[in-house]
Amino acid sequence: MSRLLDECFAANRQWAAAAVAKDPGYFKRLEAIQRPELLWIGCSDSRLPPNEIIGRASGELFVHRNVANVVEHTDVNCLSVLQYAVDVLQVKHVIVCGHYGCGGVRAAMQAQRLGLIDNWLRHIRDVHLWNREELSAIEDPDARANRLAELNVEAQVANVCHTTIVQDAWQRGQSLTVHAWIYALGDGLIRDLGMVISSPDQIPPEYRLFA
Ligand code: CO
Repeated sequence: MSRLLDECFAANRQWAAAAVAKDPGYFKRLEAIQRPELLWIGCSDSRLPPNEIIGRASGELFVHRNVANVVEHTDVNCLSVLQYAVDVLQVKHVIVCGHYGCGGVRAAMQAQRLGLIDNWLRHIRDVHLWNREELSAIEDPDARANRLAELNVEAQVANVCHTTIVQDAWQRGQSLTVHAWIYALGDGLIRDLGMVISSPDQIPPEYRLFA
Protein backbone atom coordinates (compact mmCIF):
# COMPACT_ATOMS: atom_id res chain seq x y z
CA MET A 1 0.00 0.00 0.00
CA SER A 2 1.11 3.57 -0.50
CA ARG A 3 2.72 5.53 2.33
CA LEU A 4 -0.20 7.96 2.34
CA LEU A 5 -2.71 5.14 2.92
CA ASP A 6 -0.49 3.58 5.59
CA GLU A 7 -0.55 6.93 7.33
CA CYS A 8 -4.35 6.94 7.19
CA PHE A 9 -4.55 3.55 8.95
CA ALA A 10 -1.97 4.59 11.54
CA ALA A 11 -3.87 7.82 12.24
CA ASN A 12 -7.12 5.88 12.52
CA ARG A 13 -5.64 3.49 15.11
CA GLN A 14 -4.33 6.45 17.08
CA TRP A 15 -7.67 8.25 16.91
CA ALA A 16 -9.66 5.20 18.04
CA ALA A 17 -7.23 4.50 20.90
CA ALA A 18 -7.37 8.14 22.07
CA ALA A 19 -11.17 8.13 22.00
CA VAL A 20 -11.32 4.95 24.12
CA ALA A 21 -8.65 6.27 26.52
CA LYS A 22 -10.79 9.36 27.10
CA ASP A 23 -14.10 7.53 27.30
CA PRO A 24 -14.08 3.70 27.41
CA GLY A 25 -17.76 3.42 26.42
CA TYR A 26 -17.48 5.84 23.48
CA PHE A 27 -17.77 3.45 20.52
CA LYS A 28 -20.19 1.09 22.27
CA ARG A 29 -22.62 3.95 22.85
CA LEU A 30 -22.29 5.26 19.30
CA GLU A 31 -22.69 1.78 17.89
CA ALA A 32 -26.04 1.40 19.61
CA ILE A 33 -27.75 4.51 18.28
CA GLN A 34 -27.34 7.74 16.35
CA ARG A 35 -29.52 10.70 17.24
CA PRO A 36 -28.28 13.73 15.33
CA GLU A 37 -30.39 16.89 15.43
CA LEU A 38 -28.74 18.42 12.39
CA LEU A 39 -28.60 17.53 8.72
CA TRP A 40 -25.76 19.19 6.84
CA ILE A 41 -25.98 19.53 3.06
CA GLY A 42 -22.66 20.89 1.87
CA CYS A 43 -20.10 20.97 -0.91
CA SER A 44 -17.70 18.06 -1.44
CA ASP A 45 -14.75 20.48 -1.30
CA SER A 46 -11.90 18.98 0.75
CA ARG A 47 -11.49 22.20 2.71
CA LEU A 48 -14.88 21.99 4.44
CA PRO A 49 -14.91 19.10 6.91
CA PRO A 50 -18.41 19.71 8.36
CA ASN A 51 -18.04 18.16 11.83
CA GLU A 52 -14.77 19.95 12.37
CA ILE A 53 -15.84 23.44 11.36
CA ILE A 54 -18.91 23.48 13.61
CA GLY A 55 -17.44 21.43 16.45
CA ARG A 56 -19.82 18.47 16.23
CA ALA A 57 -18.72 15.10 17.56
CA SER A 58 -19.46 11.76 15.88
CA GLY A 59 -23.18 11.10 16.04
CA GLU A 60 -24.18 14.75 16.05
CA LEU A 61 -24.34 15.55 12.35
CA PHE A 62 -26.02 13.69 9.50
CA VAL A 63 -24.26 14.66 6.28
CA HIS A 64 -24.88 14.84 2.56
CA ARG A 65 -22.27 16.35 0.29
CA ASN A 66 -22.04 16.87 -3.44
CA VAL A 67 -20.36 19.27 -5.80
CA ALA A 68 -21.62 22.79 -5.05
CA ASN A 69 -24.27 21.64 -2.52
CA VAL A 70 -27.09 21.19 -5.00
CA VAL A 71 -30.50 19.88 -3.93
CA GLU A 72 -32.30 18.65 -6.98
CA HIS A 73 -35.88 17.41 -6.78
CA THR A 74 -35.22 14.18 -8.72
CA ASP A 75 -31.86 13.31 -7.14
CA VAL A 76 -32.76 10.10 -5.33
CA ASN A 77 -29.48 10.12 -3.41
CA CYS A 78 -29.98 13.55 -1.84
CA LEU A 79 -33.72 12.96 -1.34
CA SER A 80 -33.07 9.65 0.41
CA VAL A 81 -30.67 11.31 2.83
CA LEU A 82 -33.22 14.06 3.48
CA GLN A 83 -36.09 11.62 3.94
CA TYR A 84 -34.18 9.39 6.34
CA ALA A 85 -32.92 12.40 8.31
CA VAL A 86 -36.37 13.99 8.59
CA ASP A 87 -38.65 10.96 8.94
CA VAL A 88 -36.51 8.47 10.82
CA LEU A 89 -33.84 10.47 12.66
CA GLN A 90 -36.20 13.43 13.12
CA VAL A 91 -33.54 16.09 12.77
CA LYS A 92 -34.61 19.57 13.90
CA HIS A 93 -32.55 21.61 11.44
CA VAL A 94 -31.44 21.21 7.85
CA ILE A 95 -28.44 23.38 7.01
CA VAL A 96 -27.46 24.03 3.41
CA CYS A 97 -23.91 25.35 3.60
CA GLY A 98 -22.12 26.62 0.52
CA HIS A 99 -18.77 28.34 0.44
CA TYR A 100 -17.00 31.29 -1.13
CA GLY A 101 -14.43 30.33 -3.73
CA CYS A 102 -16.49 27.26 -4.77
CA GLY A 103 -14.92 25.66 -7.83
CA GLY A 104 -18.27 24.22 -8.91
CA VAL A 105 -19.91 27.63 -8.86
CA ARG A 106 -16.97 29.19 -10.71
CA ALA A 107 -17.03 26.47 -13.35
CA ALA A 108 -20.76 27.04 -13.85
CA MET A 109 -20.01 30.66 -14.81
CA GLN A 110 -17.61 29.81 -17.59
CA ALA A 111 -17.96 28.71 -21.20
CA GLN A 112 -15.85 25.64 -20.63
CA ARG A 113 -16.39 21.89 -20.99
CA LEU A 114 -15.32 19.84 -17.97
CA GLY A 115 -17.14 16.58 -18.64
CA LEU A 116 -20.14 14.85 -17.09
CA ILE A 117 -20.14 17.34 -14.25
CA ASP A 118 -21.33 20.07 -16.63
CA ASN A 119 -24.76 18.42 -16.46
CA TRP A 120 -24.76 18.69 -12.68
CA LEU A 121 -23.55 22.28 -12.74
CA ARG A 122 -26.44 23.16 -15.06
CA HIS A 123 -28.47 23.72 -11.88
CA ILE A 124 -26.14 26.55 -10.96
CA ARG A 125 -26.30 27.98 -14.47
CA ASP A 126 -30.08 28.21 -13.91
CA VAL A 127 -29.54 30.14 -10.67
CA HIS A 128 -27.16 32.43 -12.58
CA LEU A 129 -29.76 33.08 -15.27
CA TRP A 130 -32.53 33.82 -12.72
CA ASN A 131 -30.25 36.41 -11.11
CA ARG A 132 -28.56 37.65 -14.25
CA GLU A 133 -29.32 41.33 -13.64
CA GLU A 134 -27.90 41.48 -10.14
CA LEU A 135 -24.85 39.38 -11.00
CA SER A 136 -23.91 41.20 -14.18
CA ALA A 137 -23.72 44.45 -12.18
CA ILE A 138 -20.84 43.00 -10.10
CA GLU A 139 -17.61 43.74 -11.96
CA ASP A 140 -15.08 41.74 -9.98
CA PRO A 141 -15.29 38.11 -11.16
CA ASP A 142 -14.48 36.67 -7.72
CA ALA A 143 -17.10 38.83 -6.03
CA ARG A 144 -19.61 37.82 -8.72
CA ALA A 145 -18.85 34.11 -8.15
CA ASN A 146 -19.17 34.58 -4.40
CA ARG A 147 -22.54 36.26 -4.79
CA LEU A 148 -23.67 33.39 -7.03
CA ALA A 149 -22.49 30.97 -4.32
CA GLU A 150 -24.81 32.77 -1.87
CA LEU A 151 -27.72 32.79 -4.33
CA ASN A 152 -27.11 29.10 -4.99
CA VAL A 153 -27.39 28.28 -1.28
CA GLU A 154 -30.67 30.20 -1.13
CA ALA A 155 -31.99 28.38 -4.21
CA GLN A 156 -31.07 25.02 -2.67
CA VAL A 157 -32.74 25.92 0.64
CA ALA A 158 -35.88 26.67 -1.37
CA ASN A 159 -35.51 23.30 -3.09
CA VAL A 160 -35.28 21.53 0.29
CA CYS A 161 -38.46 23.28 1.42
CA HIS A 162 -40.35 22.41 -1.75
CA THR A 163 -39.80 18.67 -1.33
CA THR A 164 -42.66 16.37 -0.34
CA ILE A 165 -40.43 15.30 2.58
CA VAL A 166 -40.23 18.69 4.27
CA GLN A 167 -43.81 19.64 3.48
CA ASP A 168 -45.11 16.31 4.85
CA ALA A 169 -43.13 16.91 8.06
CA TRP A 170 -44.62 20.39 8.48
CA GLN A 171 -48.09 19.03 7.69
CA ARG A 172 -47.86 16.53 10.55
CA GLY A 173 -46.67 19.24 12.91
CA GLN A 174 -43.02 18.21 13.11
CA SER A 175 -40.66 21.04 14.01
CA LEU A 176 -38.16 21.47 11.18
CA THR A 177 -36.20 24.56 10.16
CA VAL A 178 -34.10 25.00 7.05
CA HIS A 179 -31.11 27.38 7.05
CA ALA A 180 -28.84 29.02 4.46
CA TRP A 181 -25.20 29.28 5.54
CA ILE A 182 -22.01 30.10 3.72
CA TYR A 183 -18.45 29.33 4.74
CA ALA A 184 -15.41 31.44 3.91
CA LEU A 185 -12.28 29.44 3.15
CA GLY A 186 -10.21 32.56 3.85
CA ASP A 187 -11.07 32.94 7.53
CA GLY A 188 -12.81 29.68 8.45
CA LEU A 189 -15.99 31.47 9.49
CA ILE A 190 -19.58 30.69 8.58
CA ARG A 191 -22.05 33.46 7.74
CA ASP A 192 -25.77 32.96 8.25
CA LEU A 193 -27.46 34.31 5.12
CA GLY A 194 -30.57 34.97 7.18
CA MET A 195 -32.88 32.71 5.23
CA VAL A 196 -34.65 30.66 7.90
CA ILE A 197 -37.67 28.65 6.79
CA SER A 198 -39.82 26.71 9.20
CA SER A 199 -43.32 26.75 7.76
CA PRO A 200 -45.15 26.44 4.45
CA ASP A 201 -46.38 30.07 4.63
CA GLN A 202 -42.80 31.02 3.79
CA ILE A 203 -42.78 29.22 0.45
CA PRO A 204 -44.50 30.42 -2.74
CA PRO A 205 -48.06 29.10 -3.14
CA GLU A 206 -47.09 27.46 -6.45
CA TYR A 207 -44.93 24.99 -4.53
CA ARG A 208 -47.26 24.29 -1.62
CA LEU A 209 -48.56 20.73 -1.54
CA PHE A 210 -51.20 21.35 1.13
CA ALA A 211 -53.93 23.98 1.11
CO1 CO B 1 -17.48 23.97 -3.55
